[in-house]
Amino acid sequence: MAMQWQWLQPGSSCTVRAYAKINLTLDVLGRRGDGYHALATVMQTIDLYDTLSLTLREDGLVHLVCTQPELSTETNLALRAAMLLRAHTGERRGVLIELQKRIPSAAGLGGGSSDAAAALLALTRLWQLRLTATELMELAASLGSDVPFFLYGGLALCEGRGELVTPLPPCWPAELRWLVLLKPAISVATAGVFGALTAHDYSDGSHTQAVCAALQAQRMPALSHLHNGLERGVLERYAEVAVGRAALLEAGAPFVRLSGSGPTLFTALADLEEAHRLWLRLQEQGYEVYLTQVVYPSAESLTLASVAAH
Ligand code: C5P
Repeated sequence: MAMQWQWLQPGSSCTVRAYAKINLTLDVLGRRGDGYHALATVMQTIDLYDTLSLTLREDGLVHLVCTQPELSTETNLALRAAMLLRAHTGERRGVLIELQKRIPSAAGLGGGSSDAAAALLALTRLWQLRLTATELMELAASLGSDVPFFLYGGLALCEGRGELVTPLPPCWPAELRWLVLLKPAISVATAGVFGALTAHDYSDGSHTQAVCAALQAQRMPALSHLHNGLERGVLERYAEVAVGRAALLEAGAPFVRLSGSGPTLFTALADLEEAHRLWLRLQEQGYEVYLTQVVYPSAESLTLASVAAH
């Protein structure tokens, strides 16, 4: 994924960044036979990240410690990624994963999924595994619908249940350069948000198509196409999200959208000073707010292309 990485001691440990994402659009096309929903969504990594430090353990133990102790559990997706990779390859060495958490959890920003993708890529390197891009994508998809996207990072169209990733060239509009994120003080379970959808929330994918076409023509998409089919239900069910949305608009946000299944809301501005004023106003009101911008994989990034065997 879009992550910086660095060896601490060659071959025995490494540190990687796991970036968050926002959804610029999210069309829910309908419910599938397997209980998932068919999606067409445009995702983009942003410069808000967790850091994973991985240290090889010759004793075979796989262990995760997190700066938020409530996340140091067996269900942590980064730990599950490590266990899955071992089961898939028969690798017997272990790893200590130290996870410095900055991305809010269960927030619609893909933090857990990004940690899992970062763990898959970093461990493939650390354990010197030979895995094809297809194998890594399949392992990622089995961990969660958003995990494959984070093996690429940057800007991408994601379809299927989210796991079919088409990377797009970096063409984020200048009008949306500075992102202000507001994270209401609640957590939202993705399954519950999808479960509460009605047929009225479904769309035919035309918002996502229009956004992709605009981005590729280096045009700002129409705001009417920055659509998220999960937003209506979340605003209705969670008063804190509706209050946060009103606060953003009141403070001068030009528009507000939900990221993924929420509860995080975002707006975007071309001008940094304006974005900073908006961020400050909301911070002074006691909201958890972030001022950030998009991020793309760099030459030093650990990505699917640099890690997968050919
Ligand atoms: O794939 P992931 O485990 O992240 O999904 C969490 C839950 O969100 C799923 O169990 C499902 O209820 C819902 N979901 C969905 N359609 C998708 C992705 C997720 O209904 N495309």
